[in-house]
Amino acid sequence: MNSTLPSKRKLMTCALGVVAAAAATLVSGTALAQAGGTIKIGLILPMTGASASTGREVSAAVNLYLAQNGSTVAGKKVEVILKDDAGVADTTRRLAQELVVNDKVTVLAGFGLTPLAVAVAPIATQSKTPQVVMAAATSSIVDASPYIVRTSFTLPQVTLGMAEWAAKNKIKKVVTLVTDYGPGIDAERTFKERTLLNGGQVLAELRVPLRNPDFAPFLQRVADAKPDAVFVFVPSGFGAGFMKQFAERGLDKSGIKLIATGDVTDDEQLNDIGDVAMGMITSHHYSVAHPSATNKKFVEAFTKANPGLRPNFMAVGGYDGMRVIMKGLEATKGAGGEALLNAMKGQVFESPRGPVLIDAQSRDIVQDVYIRKVERVPAMGNQLYNVEFDVQKAVKDPAKVK
Ligand code: DHB
Repeated sequence: MNSTLPSKRKLMTCALGVVAAAAATLVSGTALAQAGGTIKIGLILPMTGASASTGREVSAAVNLYLAQNGSTVAGKKVEVILKDDAGVADTTRRLAQELVVNDKVTVLAGFGLTPLAVAVAPIATQSKTPQVVMAAATSSIVDASPYIVRTSFTLPQVTLGMAEWAAKNKIKKVVTLVTDYGPGIDAERTFKERTLLNGGQVLAELRVPLRNPDFAPFLQRVADAKPDAVFVFVPSGFGAGFMKQFAERGLDKSGIKLIATGDVTDDEQLNDIGDVAMGMITSHHYSVAHPSATNKKFVEAFTKANPGLRPNFMAVGGYDGMRVIMKGLEATKGAGGEALLNAMKGQVFESPRGPVLIDAQSRDIVQDVYIRKVERVPAMGNQLYNVEFDVQKAVKDPAKVK
């Protein structure tokens, strides 16, 4: 017999092996089904459109968390179902409804913009499905449903520090310039109230449309008002467009100081923004240059898994959101609903941004807020970074400080 041909016996063994493997799959499949099967997480993000960078960052970080920590809880496989809402609230609502009714997800997560998070809140409440807001940042979002838990930040939380810094640094007259929707209004109000409290003056409050913003006419009004500084909020992904027009109108050479929340000097875009941002002071809860061992590990793993992409504050919101979900599921042995919601509340841990707490009462995140300066850092590839130089510890959203 030719020894290169497989013997009948070998073929038999092989065939039996295939049958055995198939049977094993069936058995483990049944076992999984008996144990409640797969745990599904519906992740809804703007993967296309003007806020696609948020979708890119959050989804990459969610994947990284699972790759590092495994995707099995209480013997059940956790499956993330990613859906693109393109930043359109009606789409977010429809996708959330389908994920709850058809896919029977245990958690709804993501939400790249405030209106998208708010659109889903009634579905979370009605179906008792925890909704983890990983990106959107208007203060009032957590009030829209008792099932909402937030791992991003709020604009009042990060704006207070900027207003305090301005008052201490001889900035007396300011103009505010914000994107005209929830987070922008929050930033404007917080900055104004604190500035007035500190004896400063707000000369004008300018609001720019969210869709296809043209900053030029607003920048002209800033120039005409001749303030000591202009305070700016634009959402993640819009900073480069704003800074380009700021430079084109010559405001970088006008003597008017530019201060902002860290949304403007977004780590994903900062190198593209370039030298016009040099020296700019901002306040925020995360910088890719945050000098902790936890962050260094996070940044290294993120950039290895996503070559050419820096993690920004949106990525950290997604990474921590996945942590809160997985630890919650571990505690409930895979159960969802109110049990999972309760297991998410009160979590305390070391995030790449620093120490954080999910406040059990407000379901909102408590975190450190940093004052940072844009610098070129020779020790870090001579790239531009938001270098932290001051910190406010354990800042609660001001609306939840009673
Ligand atoms: C929101 C979106 C952003 O991209 C951001 O940087 C801050 C807030 C929001 O829509 O809530």
